[in-house]
Amino acid sequence: MSELTFSIIKPDAVKAGKIGDIMKMISDAGLKIKATKMIHMTQAQAEGFYAVHKERPFFGELVEFMISGPCVVSVLEGEDAIKRYRDLMGATNPNEAAEGTIRKAFGAGIEANACHGSDAPETAAIEVPYFFSNLEMVN
Ligand code: TYD
Repeated sequence: MSELTFSIIKPDAVKAGKIGDIMKMISDAGLKIKATKMIHMTQAQAEGFYAVHKERPFFGELVEFMISGPCVVSVLEGEDAIKRYRDLMGATNPNEAAEGTIRKAFGAGIEANACHGSDAPETAAIEVPYFFSNLEMVN
């Protein structure tokens, strides 16, 4: 079944000039880009986005990292897009990520791990409208 997923190219990868490389990996994987834009999140936006992690010890640092520079947020579409994009991203810790994944290629550590992707349909249903309106998505 075709589905949507939400993607972030995080500030570390944007700073390193990897937007084009990561977008190419996404396209080569057969995921369609329905919407994309560059944003620099405010603290409130980042805290809201990662609200599920607010009790975790790394929450404060994660928010600081996410607002340390611009990100590229996108909506991707395809058959089984959520799992396929998670597979393309690789393990959360780039040291454990498989060859050929975005995090293996561009992640520096567990925090500066280059990308985000929704982990389930329920999450995608919250994350996509958090950053995009329907008007911003191509049909
Ligand atoms: P998580 O949802 O566990 O991973 P994923 O991004 O693969 O879905 O964690 C969200 C983000 O929080 C993760 O991408 C990086 C950050 N993080 C840390 O900074 N330290 C940690 O120990 C963990 C588990 C995550």
